[in-house]
Order: sequence, then structure tokens, then C-alpha cells
Amino acid sequence: MTQKKSKEEKVKIQKKEKEKKFNNFKLFKMINPHINSYIEKNKDRFLNELFELLRIPSVSADPKYKADVIKTAAVIKEKLIAAGAEKVEICETAGYPIVYGEKIIDAKLPTVLVYGHYDVQPADPIELWTSGPFEPVIKDGKIYARGACDDKGQMYMHVKAFELMMQTNSLPCNVKFMIEGEEEVGSNNLGTFVKANKEKLKADVIVISDTGIIANDIPSITVGLRGLSYVEVEVTGPNRDLHSGLYGGAVANPINILCEMIAKMKDDKNHITIPGFYDDVEILTAEERAEMAKAPFSLDEYKKALDLSDIHGEDGYTTNERNSIRPTLDVNGIWGGYQGEGAKTVIASKAYAKISMRLVPHQNSDKIMKIFSDYFTSIAPKSVKVKVTPHHGGEPVVTPSTSVAYKAASMAMETTFGKKPVPVRSGGSIPIVAMFKSELGLDSVLMGFGLDSDAIHSPNEHYGVFNYLKGIETIPYFYKNYAEMSK
Ligand code: BES
Ligand code: MN
Ligand code: MN
Repeated sequence: MTQKKSKEEKVKIQKKEKEKKFNNFKLFKMINPHINSYIEKNKDRFLNELFELLRIPSVSADPKYKADVIKTAAVIKEKLIAAGAEKVEICETAGYPIVYGEKIIDAKLPTVLVYGHYDVQPADPIELWTSGPFEPVIKDGKIYARGACDDKGQMYMHVKAFELMMQTNSLPCNVKFMIEGEEEVGSNNLGTFVKANKEKLKADVIVISDTGIIANDIPSITVGLRGLSYVEVEVTGPNRDLHSGLYGGAVANPINILCEMIAKMKDDKNHITIPGFYDDVEILTAEERAEMAKAPFSLDEYKKALDLSDIHGEDGYTTNERNSIRPTLDVNGIWGGYQGEGAKTVIASKAYAKISMRLVPHQNSDKIMKIFSDYFTSIAPKSVKVKVTPHHGGEPVVTPSTSVAYKAASMAMETTFGKKPVPVRSGGSIPIVAMFKSELGLDSVLMGFGLDSDAIHSPNEHYGVFNYLKGIETIPYFYKNYAEMSK
């Protein structure tokens, strides 16, 4: 026990010494012309290869696309081999496969584990796309396609940056790739895979490009992700649909009741009313909030971009706080009754909703699921029956902004953007990141290049050619800085 403690202390001291060392680290801020010339020569091919991936509709949520999802994994395997990776394999899971590959140049050097996902969200509503979701085109310097940004485009930057380092003889450390096909449906099988393959996945840091920057001239690095509890609710009134004249006013209408129940879940200050919901919520200090408020943000531009005359949210918090450090409850879909052409006079037997709760440190997704379910059931009037079905969950995470890897990423972006990136906490979720920490003991660097305006998950998702190439350019600097700073 005492031996273990002294070992831990030693590691702590070593860590401190390292931090001191790289605080004085200025070496690699210089532009490396080989990187730019390799990208210049190969950029058309880089784009064409990405287009090839974007043409395959790898929608993990819809079983209709099963063959396409599997095909995408096979194509990524080929691309990794072509880029110079070894031991490339398709790892089967209970769901969609994980593509693994590595390049170990020297066991004594650090190892970077790259994570990304090749599955995409469904394309609907398809009629709102101005070109086919799986027919990538470049318009106004942006690649339009489902997955262009989230995450095929961002994931593939890593494959091409790796090719660049291989071809220019500049890979400075070991690399492992783990690209999954179920991120958009909760990464459940990846969790199992990670637990069962700790040796295979041994690394020093994880790097992920599946987030964004504030703007193309305001680089940022994500240092926090929210967790998620996702549930589906069903409210049942009468045992069949009824004539709304013969029965209207005399029986519970499950759609009306569901709306009332949802409305009850927030008070007039937009606080969530589920008892215990805020119990574990991390409270930031005034200093931390002041630090956050330094990130550039224009409320006017925010409203304008979304065509809103006003914003909305929890009392006492700014927009950036509401969408990152505060938990939420949102209806993602609601249905029931007659939705066809014209009018049908009917009281539906059932009403449904899909509800997501975004979680912040130190909330727990299982606990939130349980208290949601208890509360939802408790506020249901006797005139209806309710059923709550949990969907996927994921834990929130905060990643350090003082680590070697963070500084390596920060300096890499400073080199390629000409500006030091700001650390920001994001409102989105990548469920596996918390598990990387809990299961592998590894921190992730969330070095994404997307923009909020890229319309991920929406019609007309796109990704700037600038961002795609900037990612490919920045990643090799990250490797170089990281390898050098880890010495
Ligand atoms: N890449 C996104 C998450 C993201 C986007 C984080 C932008 C930060 C900035 C990821 O693919 C995603 O969409 N995650 C889902 C969760 C998943 C369980 C469906 C999400 O956040 O809704
Ligand atoms: Mn993603
Ligand atoms: Mn996504």
C-alpha cells in the first residue's frame, strides 16, 4: 500500500517536471513547408477519397442501410492499409464492426490512439436537401453530404495526415486507429470492445476530431462534453381511437395529457422540476464562469444565424453556459393521432415522445434515467397509463487543458491558424470519451475542426474544404509536438 502510494507520488512529480519543461517549449511553432506542399499536391485526391466514403449511406440507426454500413468499414480498412497502417482488421462486434489499424515504429516512443466514427445520422427530412445527401458536391467551398463533417470528413483527415507523415518520413511516434460504426446510436458495442481489448488499445493519449471550433479565424479546443440520457415515453388513454365528438371532453386525450406532463417538467424559470435532477450538478466557480465568458461570442449573430427574435433558457445563465455546463431536458420528437391530409376528428388511444436530457459533470445517466422515469410516472393522472423506455445513455466528461497532449494540440493549432486556440466546453456528447478515461485511464484531446453552422444532423450538412485541409495540416504538428514534448 505504502509502496503504491510512493509510486503515485513519483508519477505526480514526474508530471510536474514535464509541465515545467513544456511551458518553455517553443520549438515547433514554425511552419513546415513540406506539409503544405504535400497537401497542395494531393488535395484533389484527398477530396475524391472522402467523396467515395460520403457516397456510402452508412446510417447506423436504420437497418435498411446495414450492407452500406458494413461496406464503409471495408473501405476504411483499405484506406488505412493504403496509407501505411499495419495489422489492419475489421473487428466484429454484436453490432457494426470496428476498424482497427496501427503503425508501431518504436515501442519506446509514445502512442497516439485515434478515434473516429464512420456511421452517420439519418438524412431525413430528405426533401429539404438542396442536393442528394449521399451525392457529395462542393458548393461555395464547402462539401455538402451527410457525414461530411460528422464524422467521415473529420475522421478521414487523420487517415490522410497519417499518409502524409508516412510519405514524408515524419511519423514521430506510434499510432493506433480505432474507427467505429455505432457512435450515432450510443457506442454500446464499442464499450464492450474497449473493456475486452485494453492491451491492444494501450496508448498514451487519445485524439479525436469530432467536435468544432468557434470560427475559422477563432480556433478552439473542446475540453468538455455533456452526457446523455435518452428516453421514449408512451401515454395510453382509451383502448382504441375514439370519435372526438362522441367522447371528446369525457375521456383523457393522451396527446393533451402528454403535453401537460412535458410542460410540468420545467418551471417558469426553465429549471427542470424532476426531484433530485440537479443534486449532483457541478457548480462552477465565479472565476471559472468568468474565464468561460472570455470566449468570443455575439448574441446578435447567434440569433441572426438561427432567425430568432429572442433566445430562451434557464434563468441566471448565459447562452454559452446554457448549452455547455448546464443540463437540459428536450423533446426530440412527439407524435400521435391523425397526421394525414385534411382533418380527422379523433381522440387517439396513444401519444408518444422521445426525450433527451443532456448531463453535466457529475450527473450519472442511469440515475437520471431512473428519476425521470419515477417522476414521469408520478405526475401521470389516473386517467392514463404511461410507459417509459430507456434508450442510450452516456456520461459527461471534462478533459484537461494543462496536459502535454492539450498543449501539443494547442501549439499545433497556433501554428496553422496563427492564433492560440481557446478551450471551450461543448454541449454535444461522444459517449465513449468518458469510458476511455474510466476503462483505459486515458484522456482525450478533442481537436475538432467543424463549425456550429455545418448543420450536422440537419439537412444540408456540410464541411468546409478549408477545414478539411486545415485538419490534415494541423494533425502532423500535433504528433510532432506531442512526441517531442513527451521525451
Ligand atoms: N460529433 C457529435 C458530437 C459533437 C458534435 C460534440 C459537435 C461536440 C460538437 C456526435 O457524433 C454526436 O452527434 N453525438 C450524439 C450522441 C449520440 C449518443 C447519439 C449527440 O451529441 O447527440
Ligand atoms: Mn460525431
Ligand atoms: Mn453526430
